[in-house]
Amino acid sequence: MTSPWWRDAVVYEIYVRSFADASGDGVGDLPGVTGRLPYLAELGVDAVWLTPFYRSPMADGGYDVADYRDVDPSFGTLADFDALVTKAHELGLRVMIDIVPNHSSIEHPWFQEALRGVKRDRYLFRTETNNWQSVFGGPAWTRVADGSYYLHLFAPEQPDFNWRNPEVHAEFLDVLRFWLDRGVDGFRIDVANGLYKAEDLPDTTAGFVSGSPMSSRPEVHGVYREWRALVDGYPGERAFVGEVWTDTPEDLALYVRPDELHQSFNFAWLKAPWSADAFRAVIDKTLTEIAAPTWVLSNHDVVRHVTRYGEGSLTPSGGIDRAKAALLAMLALPGSAYLYQGEELGLPEVQEIPPDKRQDPTFFQTDGELPGRDGCRVPLPWSGSASPYGFGTGEPWLPQPSSWALLTAERQAADPASTLSFYKAALAWRRQIMAGDEIEWLAGPADTLFFRRGSVICVVNCGDVAVPLPEHKELVLATAPLVDDLLPPDGGAWLLA
Ligand code: NOJ
Repeated sequence: MTSPWWRDAVVYEIYVRSFADASGDGVGDLPGVTGRLPYLAELGVDAVWLTPFYRSPMADGGYDVADYRDVDPSFGTLADFDALVTKAHELGLRVMIDIVPNHSSIEHPWFQEALRGVKRDRYLFRTETNNWQSVFGGPAWTRVADGSYYLHLFAPEQPDFNWRNPEVHAEFLDVLRFWLDRGVDGFRIDVANGLYKAEDLPDTTAGFVSGSPMSSRPEVHGVYREWRALVDGYPGERAFVGEVWTDTPEDLALYVRPDELHQSFNFAWLKAPWSADAFRAVIDKTLTEIAAPTWVLSNHDVVRHVTRYGEGSLTPSGGIDRAKAALLAMLALPGSAYLYQGEELGLPEVQEIPPDKRQDPTFFQTDGELPGRDGCRVPLPWSGSASPYGFGTGEPWLPQPSSWALLTAERQAADPASTLSFYKAALAWRRQIMAGDEIEWLAGPADTLFFRRGSVICVVNCGDVAVPLPEHKELVLATAPLVDDLLPPDGGAWLLA
């Protein structure tokens, strides 16, 4: 039996608002995505994950859904969505979409009914609150006209559903069917661990994830068993990947049992510092505990990894060198990899966004104390030498830095030494040479990762001195030209054994 597509797929996250704008309003949209799909096919990914494009008042960039069965006019129409799926499939790309089951928008018809006192039990209304704080800052409860409160783990515009109500289950099964029937290949599940709250909503002394009553509860697994049974009835190996934040890989493993989700993001990899010991610990734990491993370095919620890694490096190109080396490590590991748009261009976090241009609720709910996530969401630079860099014709919804003139996809496509060319080479080589479910650690100098998978040896140097390469027949790819067969600090390479 051949392995299902998702098991070793490279999935490219498209943050739709910031990918490509075909309508000229400064915000990315579905026709913009469709127009750029050939770029992704050429890059060499297997699938795309689209962040929410549903009808939404955009209090949290579309993660506040008002209608789960329609496209927001700012992103296009259902016909545009169908055209996107058709084009993607023609190009051999699978399409995963985001599903947001923890909360809706306050503009969702159910919440509007709840405000009028109709069927409130679809949400979590209480006459008294507890001490829970919203993930974005501030209390997790908002008061309504009749004096009661509703729970929102995120922004006040994102009321949490009550998953103890069977109507919520039925509704989401129907929403999944709606999109499965339109041909989607899978779903990324937002806040997958948060749907159930402790029944009596007790006060917490812990944070959002660790031991909190808001965190993973056993009841949630029943939801994913229902969902798995649904997709298993469809042809074509449709898959779920969960946004699951847990404390331990053991907890994470519960979500990817054979009758639940196919995959979950491996945030331990993303959170690991630039250290061979830290990487090795995550790799060992993941490969031991998780049947279908995944790897991810960036997404639309975290500081881009070029910037994260750059902070500790001694060299000016350290951030980008480390990012390329970490890519080689993750693409050499068994399992699937999730890339975030723009990482193939080596984009850094944009830190200098003026307060009046910021959009992320985190910034506003913490009175500017936390910058929020806008810095990793700046619209992509496609071409040209000035903003909007081919993103569209209108002014982009977040300002693009002038330094991005050097980082456009057009410019990098023409440069064999660019980050984009490196990503294309790595993805092409991966298809040809990576095989097998196991890795073997090789002895290496201090603060290095040396491991072998099948006929490939992957080496990464997290230390601050150049190190000799292990014995090998051929060099396949390296983050920087190697002198005297030495791997420089922050460097990585693939070798044939
Ligand atoms: C996780 C999403 O990735 C994030 O962008 C969003 O703000 C929260 N879930 C709430 O939906």
